[in-house]
Amino acid sequence: MAIATFKTLFSIFFIPLLFASLIASKEPRFHRSMSPKSLGLRKEKLSHLHFYFHDIVSGQNPTAVRVAQGAMTNKSPTAFGVVMMADDPLTVGPEPNSKLVGKAQGIYASASQDELGLLMVLNFAFIEGKYNGSTVSLLGRNAVFTGVREMSIVGGSGVFRFARGYAHAKTFWLNTTSGDAIVEYNVYVLHY
Ligand SMILES: *[C@@H]1O[C@H](CO)[C@@H](O)[C@H](O)[C@H]1NC(C)=O
Ligand SMILES: *[C@@H]1O[C@H](CO)[C@@H](O)[C@H](O)[C@H]1NC(C)=O
Repeated sequence: MAIATFKTLFSIFFIPLLFASLIASKEPRFHRSMSPKSLGLRKEKLSHLHFYFHDIVSGQNPTAVRVAQGAMTNKSPTAFGVVMMADDPLTVGPEPNSKLVGKAQGIYASASQDELGLLMVLNFAFIEGKYNGSTVSLLGRNAVFTGVREMSIVGGSGVFRFARGYAHAKTFWLNTTSGDAIVEYNVYVLHY
């Protein structure tokens, strides 16, 4: 009698539990909560990066090229609609032959009809020291003829995982004939 009761209890409670746990462990997991420490996230730090951005649109070896434009772009005083793809060197100093610390890779496009206002969508891909292989992603509005332009840092990879912050861009040199420019960047970024 006691054994029969045990067997009944076993089949009613234990066997379904066993199957449930087997099924649960086989099911792919969509989400879970976890401790930030398990990803090595302890104390957030603030880093300041300073470099010069070389945007060469003229000559035999441009670093930024026009990839698209609108039907009326050439008639627009702000070249509204033009889309450029850039792979621009980032250097420690303003001279073109200064030490390379990374590249700014991405798109900038004329997104304003009233003044020269660019939509900037760039990854800064670094190669220097502990930053080698890490990136920060910039998204912002760049009114290139104003003094200092502020744009958002919306994320990052490697050392800059979970990054957020802002960039200040200031034109260091501009050839108004060719459109070539050297721009000083100060980037302030919170990351772990
Ligand atoms: C950066 O990392 C790459 C790949 O690991 C390596 O080939 C390269 O030499 C490194 N560059 C610098 C400047 O350390
Ligand atoms: C500016 O660009 C024009 C056209 O490419 C070139 O002739 C001129 O030498 C450049 N000026 C400077 C200061 O580099």
